Amino acid sequence: MAKQEDQFKKVISHAKEYGYIFPSSEIYDGLSAVYDYGQKGVELKKNIREYWWKAMVQMHENIVGLDAAIFMHPTTWKASGHVDAFNDPLIDNKDSKKRYRADVLVEDHVAKIEAKIEKEVNKAAKRFGDAFDKEQFMATNPRVLRYREEMDAILKRLGSSLEKEDLADVKALIEELGIADPETGSKNWTDVKQFNLMFGTKLGASADSAMDLYLRPETAQGIFVNFLNVQKTGRMKIPFGIAQTGKAFRNEIVARQFIFRMREFEQMEMQYFIKPGTQKEWYEYWKEARLKWHLSLGMGEDNYRYHDHEKLAHYADAAADIEFKFPFGFKELEGIHSRTDFDLAKHEEFSGKKLQYFDPEENKSYTPYVLETSIGLDRMFLAVFSKALQEEELENGSTRTVLRIPAVLAPTKVAILPLVKKDGLPEEARKIFDELKWDMQVDYDEKDAVGRRYRRQDAAGTPFCITVDHETLENDTVTLRHRDSMEQQRVAIKDLKDLISKEVDMRYWLEKCK
Ligand code: GAP
Repeated sequence: MAKQEDQFKKVISHAKEYGYIFPSSEIYDGLSAVYDYGQKGVELKKNIREYWWKAMVQMHENIVGLDAAIFMHPTTWKASGHVDAFNDPLIDNKDSKKRYRADVLVEDHVAKIEAKIEKEVNKAAKRFGDAFDKEQFMATNPRVLRYREEMDAILKRLGSSLEKEDLADVKALIEELGIADPETGSKNWTDVKQFNLMFGTKLGASADSAMDLYLRPETAQGIFVNFLNVQKTGRMKIPFGIAQTGKAFRNEIVARQFIFRMREFEQMEMQYFIKPGTQKEWYEYWKEARLKWHLSLGMGEDNYRYHDHEKLAHYADAAADIEFKFPFGFKELEGIHSRTDFDLAKHEEFSGKKLQYFDPEENKSYTPYVLETSIGLDRMFLAVFSKALQEEELENGSTRTVLRIPAVLAPTKVAILPLVKKDGLPEEARKIFDELKWDMQVDYDEKDAVGRRYRRQDAAGTPFCITVDHETLENDTVTLRHRDSMEQQRVAIKDLKDLISKEVDMRYWLEKCK
């Protein structure tokens, strides 16, 4: 646990040191759970967004984009159920005065049991060596089975109490499990209460006539209210999708774990409108398609898993998360939700306008069902960044810090380094910079010895360095250095663009999603 915490602290400080993420308004001591993206961070974020957009919109003839406003008519949130049901169950510790999400306290307790299972597995793997069969061990080891039973029972009870809104039982569960305030150890808890997560604001100049609004807590509703606009003007035929990226806001009470849970964050959502009755098939399709998108980035199959929901949101008939192994354990990265016709039907009811689709094949109108894929851009950023950050021991016994961001997402693709700051090398290096900048994000760096510059670019996540030396002036070749292998090759300047483009091109990576 301490090792995980240390690793996570390194992630946070590295993100700041290399211009990826700063605490918001830091000169005023920051604002809790709000962050700003720096010069490198903004590029990484843009590349993740583009990688998603290409995979969802550009690669699908029947998916189009949208950019709806953050402000929406307040009735939207009445219809969607957010005014009445977008709540978190909260509990306060009477001694420490700290506030927690009751369900998260229980889930963290379950994660501790899960960590015990992992420990048993690791122990056994060491003991049995190559003969170890993890699946068989998990299915037969009495201790593991007991732990799993315990976990299942806790999660089942939590799910059913939340479903029934039985908050007294959630408190009873916390007490029975002996869960203490993680910061102080106190077990002196208040009752559990519900708390709405939407931020309110006002539209209009005068206090009397101002209209109460909410900052949108999800981008999805902007898609639902525009469903017919897009369908009619785009002459879309079911099944078709509408994709959107944009800010969402939630007054998260327990906003911690850096950019994992923020108050202002960005979502990348896609609503796929389908014929009622086909939702099961599309649910499976999108679960698989979205996992393939993640795997295409090569961050390790073992770092992902599905988590099927037992407790379903008010709008869903099936839901699963794609979880990622963050430095603090497996947690939700993306949700795939079968939302039925809940949203469109509710908007029809509250607006009095028909939101139906005329199906020419069936010769009848119906309210489509919706399959949603929803991923947090910031959370994806954290997945990429935390997985990429590695301390590596080199053959000569020294260590290097390397940020192995997949080249396709790296903020800067290549750094141009003149070996020395004289003899015409900077001028030659500038020429290469001016040529490559048309196609990719390039850095120019001439300060310090070249070895130190390599290390700096490794730590900043730049996949390639180009070194211009005296030989360059003689035969128009340079050294191309690869961040991950540290391999160096001598290449002609005229081949640089093709060599690098091949490895950073989105097409090359996206083809793995097929
Ligand atoms: N439209 C469905 C929806 O919003 P959700 O599970 O509440 O579903 C979807 O959110 C995704 O948005 C999550 O999987 C997560 O990646 C991201 N997300 C949600 N709350 C977040 C927060 N407070 N900070 C950062 N990302 C968040």
